[in-house]
Amino acid sequence: MAPKDDKSTKKLWDGRFTEATNEFVEKFTASVDFDYVLAAYDIQGSIAHATMLESVGVISNNELSLMVAGLQEIKAEILSGDFNWQISLEDVHMNIEKTLTDKIGDVGKTLHTGRSRNDQVATDIRLYLRDKIDSISILLSRLQSGITDLAERELDTILPGMTHLQVAQPITFGHHVMAWHAMLDRDYERLMDCRRRVNIMPLGAAALAGTTFPINRQLTADLLGFDGIAENSLDAVSDRDFAIEFASFASILMMHLSRWSEEMILWSSSQFEFIELPDRFCTGSSIMPQKKNPDVPELVRGKSARVFGSLTTLLTLMKGQPLAYNKDNQEDKEPLFDTVKTVEDCLTAFGDMIPAIITKPDNMRAATKKGYATATDLADYLVKKGLPFRDAHDVVGKLVAEGIKLELDLSELDLAIMLKASPLIEENVFDVLTLEGSVNARDHLGGTSPNQVKQAISRARKRLAARQTT
Ligand code: ARG
Repeated sequence: MAPKDDKSTKKLWDGRFTEATNEFVEKFTASVDFDYVLAAYDIQGSIAHATMLESVGVISNNELSLMVAGLQEIKAEILSGDFNWQISLEDVHMNIEKTLTDKIGDVGKTLHTGRSRNDQVATDIRLYLRDKIDSISILLSRLQSGITDLAERELDTILPGMTHLQVAQPITFGHHVMAWHAMLDRDYERLMDCRRRVNIMPLGAAALAGTTFPINRQLTADLLGFDGIAENSLDAVSDRDFAIEFASFASILMMHLSRWSEEMILWSSSQFEFIELPDRFCTGSSIMPQKKNPDVPELVRGKSARVFGSLTTLLTLMKGQPLAYNKDNQEDKEPLFDTVKTVEDCLTAFGDMIPAIITKPDNMRAATKKGYATATDLADYLVKKGLPFRDAHDVVGKLVAEGIKLELDLSELDLAIMLKASPLIEENVFDVLTLEGSVNARDHLGGTSPNQVKQAISRARKRLAARQTT
């Protein structure tokens, strides 16, 4: 879409003006080269508004029919790329309104009765965002469903669980990725919560104070599928907190995606070699023939920056504005549109990639063994034999030191060495020192045992299925 720089067009608002707009100012104040994205929503809003005007007797049935037909024609032209966008008409709203008047004559001029661009634009953004929230929620659910498939596939694959990026305790790969799933569950809830506040109709607030026409706001809201009506006209036209809320949701989501990106980048490095990302999600180096770079997670990690930036932009944009509408608000669109696109792209890329992760269980197991990951299990074993936990911690610490000296894992130490550290240790100690024994023992709600992960997956799938029916 490249709007024409057509200086000859008469403005829709220049009745009181005595000179033409400065050429640079015309371009500086125009928003059509980005707000054209709202066109379909603008037309949807206009048709609802006109329908309401007809029902309360402000326009005739014939006028309504002409307007609706004209607006549908404009919509088709926009979709096919034939629409003549003009910078001199400033924004999407006036481009459409002026074209309507060109098409159907003076009747087109009555469309704006009882309405202002201020409530019009606020309505358009809300319709746009509601639509995008719905498509993003589908992408989010798709990714979550991919995670449950991966978790099921790797239900009992042993992975070193880490704290401080050091091997801590054995966990299952399935449990690890279900942690990602849990993060997305909350992101989904935040998105749905945001949708409730987005889906409120500003139309009827007009410029700032309402209108003198006998409008029926409930009818317009019903036609547009809004769940509620903004109850204060000043607030309705001016606040963009719903967009800030969406950007907050998006920032938290991107923070989560960025964390997993970091894990996947580490895991696929030759230092870890826990996973491999399929070739179709990687690229090579133009100079180093051996390279296979994890570009998708790197880009997702990088793109979190622009989303956080947009949140800051929107907050800063809003914070100094007195009531009601100010032209500042025109600046809400680009960060919002960019955030929507970034989130859609990242969820799409991850939705394709996550279920396709190739794991390398032998390497994960070897890394788990290297880190004395079952030390806590040995301490728990001693506690169950009556030793206070702090003393048990000390005994195991000494055995770990011994293991380091002998270059042996705890499960490889002689029973005699163990007995020297504590007479409470018996032959059956080796059962708790195996990696499988360790994960299986954590068999409670939220624990890492394959049995628990299986149940977590089934609960997660039930929640995902319930989303589709609500
Ligand atoms: N393009 C404007 C925006 O995005 C539309 C509203 C303009 N209203 C006005 N009073 N100048 O905010």
